[in-house]
Amino acid sequence: MLSGKHIVLGITGSIAAYKAVDILRAFKKKSAKVSVVMSRPAANFISPLTLETLSGQPVLVGRFNKKTSNLQHIYLAREADMLLVAPATANIIGKFAHGIADDFLSTLYLAFTNKVIIAPAMNVHMYTHKTVVNNMMYLADIGVDIIPAGEGELACGDTGAGRLADVDIIIEHVCSCFDSKKSLLGKKILITAGASREQIDDFRFISNPSTGKMGYVLADEAKRRGAEVTLISAPTNLLPSKQIKLIKINTAQEMYNTVVNHFDHFDALVMAAAVADYTPLNKFSGKIKKQGKPLTIELKPTIDILKSMGKRKKKQVVVGFAAEVENIIENAKEKLEQKNLDMIVLNDISKKGAGFGLDTNIISIIDKAGNVAEYPIMKKEAVAGVILDKVENLLY
Ligand code: CTP
Repeated sequence: MLSGKHIVLGITGSIAAYKAVDILRAFKKKSAKVSVVMSRPAANFISPLTLETLSGQPVLVGRFNKKTSNLQHIYLAREADMLLVAPATANIIGKFAHGIADDFLSTLYLAFTNKVIIAPAMNVHMYTHKTVVNNMMYLADIGVDIIPAGEGELACGDTGAGRLADVDIIIEHVCSCFDSKKSLLGKKILITAGASREQIDDFRFISNPSTGKMGYVLADEAKRRGAEVTLISAPTNLLPSKQIKLIKINTAQEMYNTVVNHFDHFDALVMAAAVADYTPLNKFSGKIKKQGKPLTIELKPTIDILKSMGKRKKKQVVVGFAAEVENIIENAKEKLEQKNLDMIVLNDISKKGAGFGLDTNIISIIDKAGNVAEYPIMKKEAVAGVILDKVENLLY
């Protein structure tokens, strides 16, 4: 799948630079053309000659030099299919995030319109520093893929996150970018995510621990498969990739209003949001003062968004989730029927590895005919793939 692809491998000054050799060799083995661009400090860790010999291409180090054309970054940006920076230091991440173009690699980045991937490697305190985290979040927001650093013992003696991701993970990620099936091309998918917030007063709300991750990875995967994706999200700390239309809401009522405004124009709705079932009957304005005695807040039911869309649907595929702790299959089947769904993703939230706020999930998928497909514990990205495979079967 990399055959004939042209990848620019950017290497910056980290002790992990030596691992770039393995990355380069894996690309060559898969018949990709590789051009190496190094920062000057990277050349202290690994010899440009080694990389030139292995890639069969001239290696660019540091700034432009007499041998390189002044437009070389433009030529390379035009020709290459992907820019992968591995390892990426805090310095290059900062330059990319702020548009600083003071050497060949950072200038190339600004001229590059195809896929950019970075695999950070640095000391744990640098990796978790707010500045670096913000820079990475910004880059992710504008469509740069970040392959998270691994955890373990670091070259500096500290332990924690900051090791360059495993070479296999980096190669797999690169391959998956070229691999995408575009199987949802031309389809419009509406996804909801996150925990709604039901205000008690102007400053307090009722909510739940859902982080929204399942909805966000579903949106990313649907986008990767070529769908036009709109994500209606309650507040989260997450950012979807930049081609996804994000609509932010707070309450169940706002989510309902937004879903209903969009639903008719979409091919599928996936309700991954953890919507509150109740909301305060009256919202106090200002801040409720404590009075040293029990406080009663009366709640009224919220509208069941999924059920309303199940009633409203014409040609749409409607997918719900069921967070259950007991009689899980029966309860999920009942929800599927009552809400007129095409399938339901059952989540046994009492199991270890499933439920709110985790990177993994354990699901079963139940279809209209009552078939139950059970899955082992999986990362949410893989869960998103399984769910969308089923949605595709229902759409086509
Ligand atoms: N849902 C919804 N609107 C609500 C509540 C839930 O659209 N007001 C959706 C959720 O997004 C989910 C599905 O309904 O896809 C099931 O949510 P869940 O919390 O498991 O079940 P409920 O229907 O709320 O029923 P219960 O809490 O009694 O199990």
